[in-house]
Amino acid sequence: MTTYKLLVLPGDGIGPEVMAEVEKIAAFLTYEGFVKFEVEKGLVGGSAYDVHRCAISEDDMERAQAADAVLLAAVGGPKWDNVPYELRPEAGLLRLRKDMQLFANLRPAICYPALADASSLKREVVDGLDLMIVRELTGGVYFGEPKQIIDLGNGQKRAIDTQVYDTYEIERIGRIAFELARKRRNKVTSSEKRNVMKSGVLWHEVISALHVREFPDVQLEHQLADALGMQLVRRPKQFDVIVTDNLFGDMLSDVASMLTGSLGMLPSASLGERNATTGARKALYEPVHGSAPDIAGKGIANPIAMISSLGMALRYSFNMDDLADRLDRSIARVLEKGLRTADIAGGATKTISTSEMGDAILEELKIAV
Ligand code: NAI
Ligand code: MG
Repeated sequence: MTTYKLLVLPGDGIGPEVMAEVEKIAAFLTYEGFVKFEVEKGLVGGSAYDVHRCAISEDDMERAQAADAVLLAAVGGPKWDNVPYELRPEAGLLRLRKDMQLFANLRPAICYPALADASSLKREVVDGLDLMIVRELTGGVYFGEPKQIIDLGNGQKRAIDTQVYDTYEIERIGRIAFELARKRRNKVTSSEKRNVMKSGVLWHEVISALHVREFPDVQLEHQLADALGMQLVRRPKQFDVIVTDNLFGDMLSDVASMLTGSLGMLPSASLGERNATTGARKALYEPVHGSAPDIAGKGIANPIAMISSLGMALRYSFNMDDLADRLDRSIARVLEKGLRTADIAGGATKTISTSEMGDAILEELKIAV
């Protein structure tokens, strides 16, 4: 059996608390012989700053590059508000994304039936929702040059941001979206604003050509980004995989994630290029939420986003879809039993701690395997 190197970066705040639950599950899966994880632990964010005076050490960066997958919980907190800008906790996260060249950000929005009433939308609109937003992460207007503020000298200033996309950048993100769709419900919705943006014209052209050339079996549709924003809150279940640029993806993925309730439930994955010889992709898995300093140390954080991030690693780095499905089903069953952490509590449910939630999911997993 292949041994997979997993680098675990608990980070700050509730990070170590939610990561401990993932470590329990990873240890169980290894012990039961489903997968062989070699788990290494590193420091990132404020906790790295406290030890190394930097947001991530060169040593941990090397381990991240060598790992089959990196799991990160969250970084940041008021304790590090006054550290120099380039050493701030977020710098560790940005360095990982940049050096590992993680160009594809995968943000699922799944509505567990047991939580459908917690959504701000009507139950029938979100019940059974399962979509995936694929956001381009390393290009577009956040990085394009020129990027500056010019003093025009007449009391006016001019701010310039530049949206730049090359064919290869659109192709590689498109390829990820189509490949994902084949494993799901075989539908991709590509989104841009070709009516007003040249980058949108090229995006539409490249995705359409890629579709014809390599993925004619997948259903492709195009929706302008503003219209898609409306559809996301009106009829979100029409979507399977949505692929879009960095800026639109940033906004649309935040909108989509809130269709389903708490931040404590939402995982993400960031993927890089495939290694030409091994076929493996560099990958970082992390919850969408931050370090939640307001509840850190209390043992009440919801570990589900972090545990689902491990599920995404099983699926996208290790090709273990069956095991990932079992993990997802275990989470769903725990919720069906009415077990909740405080952030998702309500009605006739039982409020449990972070570690009790981890244990409950592990128990379900033992039954399922
Ligand atoms: P946050 O996501 O940490 O917290 C927002 C709210 O959601 C808080 O009330 C928190 O208690 C709650 N929450 C978040 N995750 C939860 C969980 N697993 N279980 C239960 N409740 C949960 O965002 P906030 O407060 O804006 O930022 C706090 C710190 O985290 C800051 O230092 C920020 O820079 C950092 N941050 C880090 C991110 C990362 O590491 N990727 C992302 C977002 C923020
Ligand atoms: Mg955002």
